[in-house]
Amino acid sequence: MSRILVTGGAGFIGSNFVRMVLSEHPETFLVNLDSLTYAGNLENLAGFLDHANHKFVKGDICDGQLVEKIIDDEGIDTIVNFAAESHVDRSITGAKIFIETNVIGTLSLLEAARGKGLERFVQVSTDEVYGSLGAEGKFTERTLLSPNSPYSASKAAADHLVGAFGRTWGLKYNITRCSNNYGPYQFPEKLIPLMINNALKDKELPVYGDGLYVRDWLYVYDHCTAIWRVIEKAQPGEIYNAGGCNEKPNMEVVNLILDRLGKPKSLIKHVKDRPGHDRRYAIDAGKIMSELGWRPSVTFEEGINKTIDWYLDNADWLGHVVSGDYQKYYDSMYADR
Ligand code: NAD
Ligand code: DAU
Repeated sequence: MSRILVTGGAGFIGSNFVRMVLSEHPETFLVNLDSLTYAGNLENLAGFLDHANHKFVKGDICDGQLVEKIIDDEGIDTIVNFAAESHVDRSITGAKIFIETNVIGTLSLLEAARGKGLERFVQVSTDEVYGSLGAEGKFTERTLLSPNSPYSASKAAADHLVGAFGRTWGLKYNITRCSNNYGPYQFPEKLIPLMINNALKDKELPVYGDGLYVRDWLYVYDHCTAIWRVIEKAQPGEIYNAGGCNEKPNMEVVNLILDRLGKPKSLIKHVKDRPGHDRRYAIDAGKIMSELGWRPSVTFEEGINKTIDWYLDNADWLGHVVSGDYQKYYDSMYADR
């Protein structure tokens, strides 16, 4: 039985990964280490928290002693590091926690993992480390790293550390870099759930700048299957991009959400742009497709319909998530835009 330490498994992608693994890979035991920041939520694990093959530990990846104890006591053979501060706008207003979690936290995991003979350390990174594209071209695994936001700079630093531990200490690692995820359990600070939440409440939809910034959307389940393929099949030391082949300008996504919810376009408000806003991301996922046989399972149209249905069916989850500090966050981020 494979024994995996998943970090950040109460967040958006991590919790979807935990669900997928527990549902589809019964030969796997997961220890889920998460410090439960504003983005971590045990409700994201509903129905799986007490699963026989799942153990949740509330703790910080920066706590190297705790990580080492988990690796030893639980006989961990693989680490998948999702834990991070993940929101670009928050990194612009306060970068320090991004360095602490994304850089120091990853270093702490690497130090704890070094010398333990792990089968694999998988670093869940992002296409944002490559920077921004013009109208043409796609990111490949050979594209130079050129991060523009404090968030992407912290993720790039972590990627370099992971590679350095591989080359210096022989740590068997992989790095995955994927495009924008969407789907169930995403915190409504990110574009799609924020727009769904606002539209449902007939609130303004704040589109940054001209709204013609392009993202490549990947349904979260498909990102999880990409990571699983890497765990199962990748050679150590390889980097894999994963993308949905769904390049869309933000305005198209927002209009689609309004149409699906039967809400008027007059809710759209163009607001002050994000500083250093990356114009376009696009992924060449040829390597993971040809080497590991991975494919996204849904089109954007299918994925966005499933996502909107999920938010409509899970009004309680959304209600809990936007209670408390969420309104304070929203006002601080959007009041002056
Ligand atoms: P998220 O913000 O939803 O979840 C992050 C999780 O990490 C939360 O559960 C949080 O409690 C936990 N966490 C934060 N700091 C921690 C710490 N110090 N110790 C332990 N746990 C901690 O993020 P997400 O969107 O699910 O992203 C997961 C990973 O995937 C991140 O590494 C992110 O950089 C990467 N990624 C995200 C996307 C995307 O579109 N969301 C795309 C590409 C890559
Ligand atoms: O590309 C992968 C990255 O995707 C991940 O590494 C990050 O963790 C994840 O947050 C995401 O980053 P983005 O900055 O692309 O995602 P976000 O949802 O914040 O924004 C998507 C686009 O929508 C971007 O062009 C900014 C715009 N936007 C966003 C918000 C929150 C708006 O126009 N209005 C908004 O209110």
